[in-house]
Amino acid sequence: MHPFRRSFLASCAVTALTLASATTAWAAGKEIKLGYALAQNSHFGAAALAWAGHTEKALPGVVTFKHFPSSALGGERELIEGLQLGTVEAAVVSTGALSNFVGDVGVVDIPFLFRDTAHARAVLDGAFGQELLAKFKQRGLIALAWGEQGFRHLSNNKVSVKSVADMKGLKIRVTENPVHIAAFRALGASPTPMSWPEVVSALQQGTIDGQENPISVLTSAKLWEVQKHLSLTAHVYAPMAMLVSPTFWGGLNDAQKAAFLEGAKLGAKASRDFVDEVEQKGVALAKQHGMTVVEQIDRAAFRTALDKTYQDYARKFGQKTLDAIANTK
Ligand code: PAF
Repeated sequence: MHPFRRSFLASCAVTALTLASATTAWAAGKEIKLGYALAQNSHFGAAALAWAGHTEKALPGVVTFKHFPSSALGGERELIEGLQLGTVEAAVVSTGALSNFVGDVGVVDIPFLFRDTAHARAVLDGAFGQELLAKFKQRGLIALAWGEQGFRHLSNNKVSVKSVADMKGLKIRVTENPVHIAAFRALGASPTPMSWPEVVSALQQGTIDGQENPISVLTSAKLWEVQKHLSLTAHVYAPMAMLVSPTFWGGLNDAQKAAFLEGAKLGAKASRDFVDEVEQKGVALAKQHGMTVVEQIDRAAFRTALDKTYQDYARKFGQKTLDAIANTK
């Protein structure tokens, strides 16, 4: 074959390959699978709908989101793995399982770290929270914004928990999260890590006594159907992260990335607005459905019971980091 023809054919092959891989990445991204743990009428759904709504509008005809609410793509661990593998394009996840993937995230799961919602939002929206989002990249994930679930409270079927002593021996489902497991052990409970999709049936069957989640989750999952007692322990703030798959992200141009990022920020805000609203009425709803609610909890006593565990947290995440978070106004 003439050398010119050979090199022409070779360059055609390279061009075809480049085009093919560009279209492959893009074709996979046209319909975006967006997974999350709870129903569409939850704070997760609010985040997902606002994210999708803005992005579809900003990129007309380019992307459509297909929602997979209520753990339809599996538990949060599977969802995160799907993002890493590129089989799922987007997800909204709690930090429950996240610190198994991005270890530094565990710091925001420390109980009694944030004074209140305003404090948590200031930390996550400030330099610290934004640097934490950037760390996801090293672990094969792209994190765009921090949404919110609210402060977690304790529910169970055995006893109306008023003090640390009441926690003794309670079999409490916790997320698959070492920071939470250590805390519940220190409080005298028997922490049982479990993926969310298994929780309601485990409560029904009595294999666990209780669980802990924010009011937003309690109302969305109608936990009063399977739980008697609620104690407003507000023991830990629960953020959620708006994530995309690096494979998918890599196929987007800058304008498309900007549209996704803006959509994720709007989604995060929508989840916070939802939480603000549901926290106003959620406790009354729980009472209406027959739950006993302990509203006044000595949170300082719970925090004191964690003194030793706090030394472990400081060793793991650095005292300086804990102080910097505590000192954020
Ligand atoms: O407890 C959990 O696993 C999470 O808070 C939940 C319910 C999946 C919501 O993200």
